[in-house]
Amino acid sequence: MRSSLASVSLIGLSYYSTIISAAPFSFNGNPLQNNFPNPNPTQLLAIETQAHGSLPIAPASTAPAAPLHADTITSLQLVAFNELFEVAFFTSLIQNITNNVPGYEIQDGAKKKFLLANLMAIQAQEELHALNANMGLQGNHADPIQPCQYTFPVDNLSDAIGLASKFTDVVLGTLQDVQQGAAVAGDTGLVPAIGSVIGQEGEQNGFFRLFNKKIPSALPFLTRSTRDFAFSALNQNFVVPNSCPNINIIKLKIFQPLAVDASSVMANPTAQSKVSFSFSLPQGGPKAEWKSDYSGLEIVYINQQNAPITAKLESVAIKGNMVTFEALFPFNAATFGNGLTIAALVTAGAPIANADQVAAAAVAGPGLIEIN
Ligand SMILES: *[C@@H]1O[C@H](CO)[C@@H](O)[C@H](O)[C@H]1NC(C)=O
Ligand SMILES: *[C@@H]1O[C@H](CO)[C@@H](O)[C@H](O)[C@H]1NC(C)=O
Repeated sequence: MRSSLASVSLIGLSYYSTIISAAPFSFNGNPLQNNFPNPNPTQLLAIETQAHGSLPIAPASTAPAAPLHADTITSLQLVAFNELFEVAFFTSLIQNITNNVPGYEIQDGAKKKFLLANLMAIQAQEELHALNANMGLQGNHADPIQPCQYTFPVDNLSDAIGLASKFTDVVLGTLQDVQQGAAVAGDTGLVPAIGSVIGQEGEQNGFFRLFNKKIPSALPFLTRSTRDFAFSALNQNFVVPNSCPNINIIKLKIFQPLAVDASSVMANPTAQSKVSFSFSLPQGGPKAEWKSDYSGLEIVYINQQNAPITAKLESVAIKGNMVTFEALFPFNAATFGNGLTIAALVTAGAPIANADQVAAAAVAGPGLIEIN
């Protein structure tokens, strides 16, 4: 997501010293004017009103919930980390539309009002998702996750809504991982609440897709993701490095970025489609097991609930520190490639039967591809 825009702004910086780049989004200075992420009880009620509903209300008399397992704490940390980003994104988007920032102007007053009404509800709903995760952490004597500073690699409305759809797709895949982890750990009490959020984010995504003239429901079974892929995507694309006060307590991986250009597939998906990729060499150069022709690496695609599939690296070229290559993206309208596909660069021959194994074998990723 960032790669192409990052290179555009690099060019801008080196050639035009007067270029103004948007300052990162920060919660310092109280941009929501409700002390989020630390609202007082009155402010929380206002958030709930704006969200059209409340944080989960526990029964009046109930035994204290059993403490969550460490792996489930990690999941709640990721959920809080992600939801804080989402609040930042929708707050920035609402500001841009409200203030008629170039690229975000809507001439039709009724259309503008309706879009803002949608986004205001979504913003508050995301605030409650973040607060709920952080309250779950505090209830388990774990520190709440504090927000970072963020940049958003878009500068117009349709791209912003498209980006919202893309990161929501990743969330929809990752919450599957969170549910499975909670169930395996024995923290089954969390599974229904996570399910309620999956449906909620799916409703949002139907709106985002329709806004950009796509059918609202992308796939019969949404693409699986993993916590490491989601954490990596957030850090690679949106988080200002070193701006997160307590990111170090989240025990998840941040992979090397895998830049992807799927524009030709998106324009015309076929069984012979190719996708372009690039990644930067690690310190010390290529690993011996990658082999001199890079046949020791392969691309893996995760799409829908199907077994991941692999593709060979083709037309490999090295420019300085960057490795560029192509890989087949064998689109099939019935069986492969619609909706979100997560691409990862893995060691060839590693077990990749499911998304968690793909993440375990990943050298770089995730590359996010969205078709139709
Ligand atoms: C809001 O506008 C600024 C300036 O164009 C841009 O940098 C930022 O990415 C926009 N935010 C969103 C969420 O689109
Ligand atoms: C939004 O920005 C992207 C990237 O710069 C550009 O390709 C696209 O045409 C823009 N869309 C509109 C509607 O301005």
